[in-house]
Amino acid sequence: MRGKFIVVEGLEGAGKSSVIQLVVEALEAAGKTVVTTREPGGTPMAESIRECVKHPWEEQVAEETELMLMYAARRQLLVNRIFPALEQGQWVVGDRHELSSLAYQGGGRKINQATMQALSDITLQGFTPDLTLYLDVDPQTGLERARGRGELDRIELSGLAFFERTRARYLELAARDERIITIDANQPMAQVHQAVSAQLQAYIR
Ligand code: TMP
Repeated sequence: MRGKFIVVEGLEGAGKSSVIQLVVEALEAAGKTVVTTREPGGTPMAESIRECVKHPWEEQVAEETELMLMYAARRQLLVNRIFPALEQGQWVVGDRHELSSLAYQGGGRKINQATMQALSDITLQGFTPDLTLYLDVDPQTGLERARGRGELDRIELSGLAFFERTRARYLELAARDERIITIDANQPMAQVHQAVSAQLQAYIR
């Protein structure tokens, strides 16, 4: 029996890490074998791409370069980890997946739909997560939380307007797809966790 792919999404500072921990614990309590991944990253080569896209290069980083690196990392992760795990019946919990590209590069960087679709077709060939939990946070709040964790990387330095566009695209895409569940992550973490647990229990059942 094929496993399921559950993805946690959201802007920096949305609280993804603690939600992922919660999701893993809930699935394990329900008897599932769980593996976690993150994007960009999750294999040695994809982790190297992660370093590369986050690095504050002095040269201009073309938006298309950023986009292609995200999808290149995703392909590595799919082929080496996600597909094999699902085939073995394991449940995969992903810290980000394609929705991040659609929101950050499509919404934030304003890359056109045809380019986005071309890369998606090459990389995913129609593969999509079974369930996505989108943690919706106000960008200002999220960035303040991220700043509290240390220095901001190249993408985090893209400015508030970029993150406003990214969030708007997340909300738009979530509203259109019933497999993407929006959770208000501006609330205190205890309430966020309660909302996540309720959604997960319903899904597992
Ligand atoms: P994070 O996982 O620690 O949040 O870092 C990943 C960063 O990369 C974050 O700023 C979001 C960004 N990102 C994209 O812009 N596009 C993508 O497709 C993915 C997976 C991440």
